[in-house]
Amino acid sequence: MLRSPHSTVLSPSLLAGDHAALGKSLRVVEETGLSWIHLDIMDGHFVPNLTFGPQTIAALRPQSSLFFDVHLMLDNPHVHLEAFLQSGADQVTIHVEPDYPVAETLKRIKDAGKKCGLALNPDTPAEIAMPFISDCDIVVIMSVMPGFGGQSFREDILPKIELFSQWRKEKGHSYRIQIDGGITIKTAPGCLNRGADTLVAGTAFYRADNRNSFSKEIVAQ
Ligand code: DX5
Ligand code: ZN
Repeated sequence: MLRSPHSTVLSPSLLAGDHAALGKSLRVVEETGLSWIHLDIMDGHFVPNLTFGPQTIAALRPQSSLFFDVHLMLDNPHVHLEAFLQSGADQVTIHVEPDYPVAETLKRIKDAGKKCGLALNPDTPAEIAMPFISDCDIVVIMSVMPGFGGQSFREDILPKIELFSQWRKEKGHSYRIQIDGGITIKTAPGCLNRGADTLVAGTAFYRADNRNSFSKEIVAQ
């Protein structure tokens, strides 16, 4: 067991909220006493689905003081970055897989005074992210293929959590480790016990019978 030095954070994914009333779905998170919201941005190319863009984030910003954890699932995040930086994002995560200047894009996020993250799909080896992790505030390990909420957690990503956790300790890095996809009360402990500290939950949060007890239970694991 290798626990994270960071406190556990639950970042509900607005993807599973009510898209006709996103402001209301943000308030649900605030009323639960949480401080983060995960905003999934999909381009229909990198992932086979579309969601919303920077205009929606900017419209939500004045309605909430939640930490806006923006997950860009885009082939060309560097092209659209400025709009997201201006939208009120507090943290911007980009993927390592597409072909674009990753290090330069992470630096642009940092230079704008935001936290920066790097995400890896379930089949992407951890080593590919290695050159960039010293510059990251958060490493996002996808535990489903990105594109849709409500998928089952992939157990085969568990060793990747251990790797990033070991590297953080051995090399003195301070990044958070976020796990995104299929997080439930059952799948959370295996992640936290390997060093994850930031859990995204869309379906399990918004569909919970009691969101307060779900959130408390998951963070207390
Ligand atoms: C998947 C998204 C996830 C997703 C998680 O492409 O990046 O953030 O919303 O949803 P659940 O918790 O339903 O797996
Ligand atoms: Zn996400």
